[in-house]
Amino acid sequence: MPDLSHLRDRDELLITMVCLGNICRSPMAAAVLANRTADWKEPRILVDSAGTSNWHVGEGPNPPSKKTWEAAGYKFDHVASQITEARMKKSDLILVMDRSNHRNVLALTEDSDLHSKVHFLRDFDYTITGEREVPDPYSLPDSAFEEVLGMVERAIDGLLQELTR
Ligand code: 4NP
Repeated sequence: MPDLSHLRDRDELLITMVCLGNICRSPMAAAVLANRTADWKEPRILVDSAGTSNWHVGEGPNPPSKKTWEAAGYKFDHVASQITEARMKKSDLILVMDRSNHRNVLALTEDSDLHSKVHFLRDFDYTITGEREVPDPYSLPDSAFEEVLGMVERAIDGLLQELTR
């Protein structure tokens, strides 16, 4: 579990979820995080998400992803965008879904302070050991999106505990 004690005394935190297309996994993770922290005041949690690719910039969420988070009770609006070094600078925490996202985000900058903000979302899931990736569900059956939602929810449970401990 990454140590986030340096973020615990902050008034406001910007947390950016990152995947490849920014239409399936990272908007779902942002939806869960935004809903779970909507009433947080100290710190106030600002939620963002982005893709490492520009393939879907300007598009809404992938319909099965949105359907899955809405069925679970989360309300969230989303338009896809791409991660940049400037957005890394503004973020306090950058949470990637898989190893390829991790590599591509780190490649955007040589700044080690920015690199230190980047973590795997699933590294905050204290119910698992070893598995670090939220797998890409794009064009897979609805069950793949439901599995992603479960992974994202468990990881965000751990993340919120780490931020409040
Ligand atoms: P995401 O899923 O990275 O979770 O948004 C994908 C969305 C689109 C593509 C791949 C993954 N694509 O190849 O267009």
